[in-house]
Amino acid sequence: MTSMPRDFARPTLRIFKTAEMASTAVADLLEQRMVAKPDITIGLATGATPRLVYTKMVERAGAPSWRSVRCFNLDEYVGLDASHPASFAYYMNDLLFDHVDVDPRRTHIPDGTALDLEAAAKAYEALISETGGIDLQLLGIGRNGHIGFNEPGSEHDSRTRQVELTPSTIAANAPDFPEGEEPPATALTMGIGTILDAREIVLLATGPAKAEALYAALEGPVDLDCPASALRKHSAVTVFCDEAAAARLKRDNLSFTGDGYAAA
Ligand code: GLP
Repeated sequence: MTSMPRDFARPTLRIFKTAEMASTAVADLLEQRMVAKPDITIGLATGATPRLVYTKMVERAGAPSWRSVRCFNLDEYVGLDASHPASFAYYMNDLLFDHVDVDPRRTHIPDGTALDLEAAAKAYEALISETGGIDLQLLGIGRNGHIGFNEPGSEHDSRTRQVELTPSTIAANAPDFPEGEEPPATALTMGIGTILDAREIVLLATGPAKAEALYAALEGPVDLDCPASALRKHSAVTVFCDEAAAARLKRDNLSFTGDGYAAA
């Protein structure tokens, strides 16, 4: 087990009774940040976990306004365009972008259909930095501890690139695809280094299937086996989770804050 150098940060942990309460708290934080900075740049995640956050943001549409917000999505499957129901572009339009006043010219998703994927990855990375970087990056976590599509073994300073998906990730995401259609084997993803460049990171993890990954990320060794453990190299990470996902986490120095537990 690699020792944890003293300089690693400890994410702020907020544990809620239910996934619904945790998702509401994330939506509240997003709203706060958007009101404070109307031209905020937000990194967005996909998957089952953030669905409820986006639903809540749509319910609140108009206040705050998305008009000046810029959005960068973490990842996209190679070969899928926005018309494919399992693409992350489709997911974002269906769940959020079609229902709020966001400017489509300020919503960005890696281009999985590019003929030159390396060039598309580089261009995505360049656009993030040219537009001032990401203020707040929303993350989920895969069952194997992946963030975005950075699978175990991904370097913690990796940049936006094409990656191979592990069999467990393909299996976990297969239900999103039409009957009999396999997910693509590769994807474009923001790198872990790209994610760590965000000025603030919010990780949302809910359900028992994430307990092991969250434990590895927050209390295991900081190493390449658990991509999410890289988050402990960042000084502004807040983890929102429900009791089920927090099942294996230490509770010392957490205090009950009425709607959940937070670091004292
Ligand atoms: C996919 C996405 C990740 C997401 C993960 C977990 O791999 N690329 O961004 O965090 O799935 O998804 P879910 O929230 O459905 O468990």
